[in-house]
Amino acid sequence: MKAKKWLLGLMMSILIVGVLGACGNGDDKKLVMLTSADYPPYESMDTNTNEIVGFDVDIAKYITKELGYELEIKDMDFNSLITAMNAGKGDFIMAGMTPDEDRKKNADFSDIYFTAKHLIVTKKDSGIETTEDLKDKTVGVQTGSIQEGVAETVAETIDIKIETRNRIPEIIQEMLVGRFDAAIIEDTVAAGHFKNNPELTGFEVKEVSEAGSAIAFEKGSDLTVEFNRVLNEMKDNGELDKLVVKWFGGEE
Ligand code: ARG
Repeated sequence: MKAKKWLLGLMMSILIVGVLGACGNGDDKKLVMLTSADYPPYESMDTNTNEIVGFDVDIAKYITKELGYELEIKDMDFNSLITAMNAGKGDFIMAGMTPDEDRKKNADFSDIYFTAKHLIVTKKDSGIETTEDLKDKTVGVQTGSIQEGVAETVAETIDIKIETRNRIPEIIQEMLVGRFDAAIIEDTVAAGHFKNNPELTGFEVKEVSEAGSAIAFEKGSDLTVEFNRVLNEMKDNGELDKLVVKWFGGEE
């Protein structure tokens, strides 16, 4: 009788330790990606499934699967991403984010996985055809984006009024109702808005460097090397090209 109780106790403890261990493991094997899902085709909310989809999401799924992690995605304003990651709210950021010197102070970045150009987007009848035409105009950019910096560079030589909004669709809306004369948006993202709003057009801002996208990690994170390894595999084995075609190529 006594012996049996003792055995039962032992079995219970083994069970408890086992369950705890499994939980710990499960936690370790999940990564949280932070993004700003206002940026198709990189990331946007699929209103049918209520899931975030896009180029970045597909890359993240491929890499995390390859490394044996489960993936969870959290949506927030672009401007909050790095702070949120460093506050422990996520493990990495994919949001079409361009590494620049300021950001590199607060995050480590993977290699670049895609490069886009900056466009000045405006209504076809605005009469704005060159950067110089922006003189005395109101220009919208996403808060905390590289494009905000591009606008500031333009403002050094041409008098423009810069307006910021947290989400790209808000900027498009302000332009459509005539509160903004123009906006600075990446070409690949602008393309989708041209399709939905035929009254919009755009031209390249040649004065500034292109916007490369990279994955951001907490400073010193081991994930940077792991992700880079798979990212470069994707470049070599054609997976990345496939995703480029899926999300950016073959319009219509
Ligand atoms: N590439 C630009 C940047 O890093 C814009 C990215 C905006 N991304 C987004 N998901 N809204 O500033």
